[in-house]
Amino acid sequence: MTSSEHRKTPVNKVVEIPHLAFPKGFLWGAATAAHQVEGNNIASDWWELEHSGSPVIVEPSGDAADHFNRWPADLDLLAGLGLNSYRFSIEWSRIEPVRGQISRAALDHYKRMVAGCVERGLTPIVTLQHVTLPMWFRRAGGWQADDSADLFGQYAETVLPVLNEGAAWVATINEPGFQPLMSALHRGDEAALNAWRGGPIPEVTPDEIDDLVRAHRAARDVVRAGTDAQVGWTVVLHDLQYDSEGEAEAKQWFDTHEAPYLRAAREDDFVGVQNYTRSRFDATGEVLPGPDDRMTAIWEYYPESLGNAVRLAKSVVGDVPIVVTENGVPTEDDSERIEFIDRALRSLDEAIADGVDVRGYLHWSAIDNFEWALGYGPRFGLIEFDRTTFARTVKPSADWYGRLVRANSGPTV
Ligand code: BGC
Repeated sequence: MTSSEHRKTPVNKVVEIPHLAFPKGFLWGAATAAHQVEGNNIASDWWELEHSGSPVIVEPSGDAADHFNRWPADLDLLAGLGLNSYRFSIEWSRIEPVRGQISRAALDHYKRMVAGCVERGLTPIVTLQHVTLPMWFRRAGGWQADDSADLFGQYAETVLPVLNEGAAWVATINEPGFQPLMSALHRGDEAALNAWRGGPIPEVTPDEIDDLVRAHRAARDVVRAGTDAQVGWTVVLHDLQYDSEGEAEAKQWFDTHEAPYLRAAREDDFVGVQNYTRSRFDATGEVLPGPDDRMTAIWEYYPESLGNAVRLAKSVVGDVPIVVTENGVPTEDDSERIEFIDRALRSLDEAIADGVDVRGYLHWSAIDNFEWALGYGPRFGLIEFDRTTFARTVKPSADWYGRLVRANSGPTV
C-alpha cells in the first residue's frame, strides 16, 4: 500500500483546465533522473563530489526520495493521476560500479522498472546517462578519454535487455552541453565553481563537443540495432530573446552552448527539448533579470519560453520529431506550478498549431529532487516526500495536471 495523501487546492486558486489541440497518442508524463531521486548512488562521480568538501555543494544526496526502493508506489501514483508516460534514467554506476564488472541485480532492477511502467500503461522513456558518471569512468578521463565512446557504446549494449522490456524512447546523454561544465567542476576549475555561483558558463572546446557527439552516436547505433526504440538525446534550450543590437550576442551564445547538439540530432529519431526559462541579450551580451522581473528559486519565471524553445529546435533539426523531455519550475508555492504548466502548455499549443512536430510533454519533475549542487532546496516536484519517513504527498499541481491530461487525451484506440 502506498503511504501517500493528496493535498487540496485552495478554492481561490483553482485554474481552469485549458483545451489543447495536441496530436493523438501524445506522451503526457513526468520525469526524474536516477541520482536525483534514487538515493545512495555510491559508485558515481557525483557521490564522490558531494563528499569531497567542494565549496559549491550545499548538501549530499543521501537517501534522496528512496525511489530506488519505492518506484512501484511512485509509478502507481503517476498512473493514478492519468499520465501515460514516465521518463527516468538508468544509473550507469549501478550497472557497472567497477570497470567491466556488471551488476546483474542492477540490470534486473531496471528491467523490472521498465516492465513496471508498461504494466501500468506508462510508456517508458529511458535516459542512459543523466549528469552522473561512474567514478571509474570519470577518473579514467571521462568523455575526454580516447576510449570514451567505445565504453559508452558497450554500456548501451549491456543495458539492451533493460530497454527491450518495452522502452519506446531512449535518450543517450542528457543535456550534453552541461557535461563540459560537470567535468570542469570535478576538476575543481575556478571558472566552473564560479558558474555554479551564478557566473558565466565557461567556454566549451570543439574537442569536448566532438567527444560527446561520438559517444552519443556509438550508443545510438547500438540501441537502434538492438531495440525497436526511437533514439535521440536531450538538449537544454533557452528561449533566446534579443533586439537588433543583441542579435549577434544571442547567436554566439546559441552557437556555443546549444546549436552543436541540435545539429548532431539531425539524424536521430527524435530530439528531447528541455526548457525552463528565457535568456535576453543586448549589445553588451546577456542581460540578467532585474528587480522588476518575476523570479523562481533559481531563474526567471517565464513559462512562455517553452513554445519558443521548440520553435528554435525545429529551426535546426527540421523534421526530426521533438519530445519535451523536461519543463518545470522550482517553487515552494505550488499554485505557481499550476500557472506555469498552464501557460507553458498554451505556448506549446501555439507552436504545434504553427507546425512544430511535438510528440510529448514530460514535466520536470515527478518527485521533488536532489537539485545537484543546490541540494534539496529548490522544489520542482509534482509529488513531495517526507525526508524522514519518505511518505509521499501529491501536490495540487499534480492533481490539476492529471485532470488536464485526462481532458486532453483522446481515445487511445
Ligand atoms: C537537468 C535536471 C535538473 C533540471 C533543473 C536539467 O538541466 O536535466 O537534472 O534537475 O534541469 O535544474
